[in-house]
Parts: sequence; C-alpha cells; structure tokens
Amino acid sequence: KNIVILISGGGSNMAAIVRASRRGDWLQRFGARVSAVVSNRADAGGLAFAREQGIATAVVDHKAYASREAFDAALAAEIDRHEPVLVALAGFMRILTPQFVERYAGRLLNIHPSLLPAFPGLHTHRRAIEAGCKVAGATVHQVTAELDHGPILEQAVVPVLEGDTEATLAARVLTQEHQIYPRAIERVLRA
Ligand code: GRF
Repeated sequence: KNIVILISGGGSNMAAIVRASRRGDWLQRFGARVSAVVSNRADAGGLAFAREQGIATAVVDHKAYASREAFDAALAAEIDRHEPVLVALAGFMRILTPQFVERYAGRLLNIHPSLLPAFPGLHTHRRAIEAGCKVAGATVHQVTAELDHGPILEQAVVPVLEGDTEATLAARVLTQEHQIYPRAIERVLRA
C-alpha cells in the first residue's frame, strides 16, 4: 500500500511521517510505506530529505500549467503512478479543485495549523494571537471540497503564552503537528 505525500516547502511534516513509518514498522504491520514525495515547487527543501531517504520524488510545477484544472490533472497523473491508498497534504500550499478532491475522496488528508473549525485559511497563528486566544493547535482532517473543513481525525492543543510571536507559536504548534500527523495516518491504516 503506497502513501504519497505532497509538499511545497521544508516538508517537516513529511519527514515526521517518513520517520514514523520506519520507527513504527508500517511496512511490516500494514504493508504500507511512503512511496513518493511530490512537490509543486522544485525548490522545496523537503525534496532533498526524501531523496536522501531513497524515496521517489517528483515536481509538478504549477507555473507550467495554464489553468488550475490542468495543473491538478498533471498532479493526479503523477500521483496515480503510485496507485496510493493515501495522499497526505503536508505543507502543500495549493488549493485543489473539487475534481481533484473528488478523485481522492476518502483517502486525502491535510494538516492545518489551527484548531479547526477555528481559523481556516492562512496566517492562523497571527490571528489566534490577535484574537487573544489562550490555546492554539493543529488539526489533521479529511480533505473535502470546502477549504480546511472536513472530518477531523486528530488535534493537538498548545498554550498561547505571554509575549508569543507568530514564530514562537508556530514552532510550538509545528512540534505537535509532527506528533499528530503520523498518529492520524496509523489510525487510517489500521482501520
Ligand atoms: C507549517 O506551517 C505547517 O503548520 C503547515 O505547513 C507549514 C509547513 O509545514 N502544515 P512543513 O514543515 O512543510 O511540513
């Protein structure tokens, strides 16, 4: 069973999933492994990590396509080469078309750096601080056509501390993301 992870940047969530798959012996226990890391950006730092780990990588550059639909079709073609049981969006900074979401319905996950349904969209940490929130966190959810909504699989809560900046809060949340994403995937694999 192949898992494909989509990234756009550093890929720390992807790396956490790869490490967990090794540590958690997913191949032995679930017959599952991370078989490819696909990015929409050739300069995504996470690609180097994936290559070092011997994981297939691909770049589908959104700038090379005239429309969102054309990009999504090219992305799906690349993903489908691996016939994945699961596609994990991990710091993937593209909004996907309903057609793409429909194609992977039920096997498409995302991690969002807020306690959904609070703060869908961007700049979640800044918004939480500005709102005076006492807690913040991250959510792993099934992806549906509505952005940052969809059945919640895992969440983690962190305190918002006096003097927190967007960066200090983001770092505290990211640490929790690296815990809950692998846990969410294991739950799906075990189901
Ligand atoms: C992080 O802000 C994370 O909260 C969100 O995407 C950003 C980068 O994640 N999911 P990653 O390090 O590329 O996994």
